[in-house]
Amino acid sequence: MRLILASNNAHKAQEFREILSPLGIDVVTQSEAGCHFEADETGETFEENAFIKAEAAMKATGEAAVSDDSGLEVDALGGEPGVRSARYTGRHEDSDADRRAYLMKKLSGVEHRTARFVSAICCVFPNGDRIEARGECEGAIATYEAGENGFGYDAMFIPEGENRTMAQMSAEEKNAISHRGRALRKFARLLEEYTNAHK
Ligand code: IMP
Repeated sequence: MRLILASNNAHKAQEFREILSPLGIDVVTQSEAGCHFEADETGETFEENAFIKAEAAMKATGEAAVSDDSGLEVDALGGEPGVRSARYTGRHEDSDADRRAYLMKKLSGVEHRTARFVSAICCVFPNGDRIEARGECEGAIATYEAGENGFGYDAMFIPEGENRTMAQMSAEEKNAISHRGRALRKFARLLEEYTNAHK
């Protein structure tokens, strides 16, 4: 089965493929399908934004499209940056490293550093049907950065029960416990049920 991935984020595309390809799901990014656009993430929840992106890609391609809206919720910051994780500094041109430095500064002197990554997956079919799945990964924000793997806030996030940051883990190790890995495995089960029911 082929699904259009409503994302321009190469790291996300790689994680989708690592998890869904072995299950026989062929993930094609919207730009590989010839659609070059970025839907406005105007929602106030991960679920709303995931739906906005998936629906836009489904309408642009005419094919079933899947998306992930994700982010980091830091308890000491009342859940920030949340849905604003990708644009936390407010400057579009800033890098992941800039956003990590901004968060590190906001947490300077803060002892209680618990946080979680959240991923909301949404798949929209041309007939309007929708499959949704959510995954979370609890952890804490380190007082340092470490590791070269992954992307985004991985280098400063230590998953619960670990002593390494997510950026110090291999792709397999991250996918086994990550918010996106959990959401995608749940999604794959729901997709299988859906396709069996619509044969
Ligand atoms: P969006 O879902 O494209 O709006 O962006 C999600 C943002 O959350 C990313 O740009 C990262 O900053 C952050 N994020 C989401 N998932 C991860 C992850 O697996 N590791 C590190 N950062 C992540």
